[in-house]
Amino acid sequence: MPKVYIHTHGCQMNDYDSTRMRDLLAQSHHCMDETYDPYQADLLLLNTCSIREKAQEKVFDQLGRWRVLKKQKPSMMIGVGGCVASQEGEAIYQRANFVDIIFGPQTLHRLPQMIDRVYHNRQKLSFSPVIDTSFNELEKFDLLPPSQEDGPNAQISIMEGCSQYCSFCIVPYTRGEELSRPPEKIVEEVEQLCQRGVREITLLGQNVNAYMATDRHKHTIDFADLLYILCEVNGIQRIRYTTSHPAQFSSALIDAHRELPKLAEHIHLPVQSGSDAILTRMKRGYCVQDYKNIVQQLYSALPNISLSSDFIIGFPGETEQDFAQTMDLVKEIKFDFSFSFLYSPRPGTPAAEMSDETPHKIKKERLQLLQNTLQEQAQNISRRMVGSIQSVLVTGRSARNAQQWTGRTSNNRVVHFASSRNCRGRFASIRITQSMPHSLRGECIAMDIPPPTHHRQQVICASS
Ligand code: SAH
Ligand code: F3S
Repeated sequence: MPKVYIHTHGCQMNDYDSTRMRDLLAQSHHCMDETYDPYQADLLLLNTCSIREKAQEKVFDQLGRWRVLKKQKPSMMIGVGGCVASQEGEAIYQRANFVDIIFGPQTLHRLPQMIDRVYHNRQKLSFSPVIDTSFNELEKFDLLPPSQEDGPNAQISIMEGCSQYCSFCIVPYTRGEELSRPPEKIVEEVEQLCQRGVREITLLGQNVNAYMATDRHKHTIDFADLLYILCEVNGIQRIRYTTSHPAQFSSALIDAHRELPKLAEHIHLPVQSGSDAILTRMKRGYCVQDYKNIVQQLYSALPNISLSSDFIIGFPGETEQDFAQTMDLVKEIKFDFSFSFLYSPRPGTPAAEMSDETPHKIKKERLQLLQNTLQEQAQNISRRMVGSIQSVLVTGRSARNAQQWTGRTSNNRVVHFASSRNCRGRFASIRITQSMPHSLRGECIAMDIPPPTHHRQQVICASS
């Protein structure tokens, strides 16, 4: 059986796309098996990301390593997909003329046909690459085969692209404008996943709050409506989503969190900065007070909700005072595990044209300060969970200790615990006994107790 090796750069969306490529190639007439060893592969695929720095360099570094492999095995095919491919197109071949296929995030479903064309060209002794980086609306979703997910949790893309055009971000240019999938198609996919044993789904989109589609009765379905619909699917016990955008966080969505116990008690809500001046220049469409208002409403709906965020440090013109405001916000909201990045100019975006006088050294110091505080706060939350009882979806055996099981809490923490039963794919009630830097330890007190019917019963704090 021919083998494919897939190397993924960057975001959750790319991880998802890579799993879809794997499933597609396995089910296509090429019947490809995934390998984790590039030396064994007949096809090497690089799924690239251009959100932050050095995207191009990373791509060509990787391709340089693969060039050596291809020299040893000339029949090998190399494909480059994702956002760098979408942006650079043929330029990739000009720098790396051993690449056979260049495809974008919206054309990955055509990989089997592209492979055919490479074979066909080679027979005619033509070695020019097959390139398709077009935007094709939602064709991709209609043509991809069902997911082969075999774990208890799965991701599902509900929309493509983004129309927010934050001034620093490349995504709208590489993935195109927002396009939402019809609700019926999403429900159908979720039902199929459930039949394969999936119990938790993560809905993916660059800005899920902008989800807007029409159902077969011509009713408009927004993101909150979609959540109500998906919570009705039998077998699904927990739903997460990412990424959400503060400018479109509707009151209907806050109500959904209050009313739908299947929604995880964790929201990733990127704020980017705690300074209004910076948020305006980022074109984020909200001010700090708007953000605080959403958080306050969420806390009054769900006192135990955990909030995480993304931060960009060193945006052009960020002053000491702007940074201090970001730190104040972080301390006030007590964010859980979050992501923070140094600003990276993306060619073609408005922010890349803004003047930026802050020395790199100062930016790095600010980032370090922020990361220390975020880390400390997240550890405090973990410590406070010791003694509480958590509903944990068990994903499998612990990688380090086969006697132990691993799963995730509603607030997305990894928990390890011992049990002689087969716990995979089941919800375990775990009393947390110890907090560690990246995970928790606990003891199993019951199995198969469905997640509580009301959020507020979920965390029973013993000590606080
Ligand atoms: N759609 C999501 C995430 C997009 S990219 C959203 O609404 O936020 C993920 C994160 O990467 C962003 O939240 C932002 O914090 C970061 N990011 C995007 N472009 C960046 C850039 N040019 N420099 C540094 N960080 C960036
Ligand atoms: Fe990027 Fe802003 Fe969209 S960060 S993905 S343009 S919401």
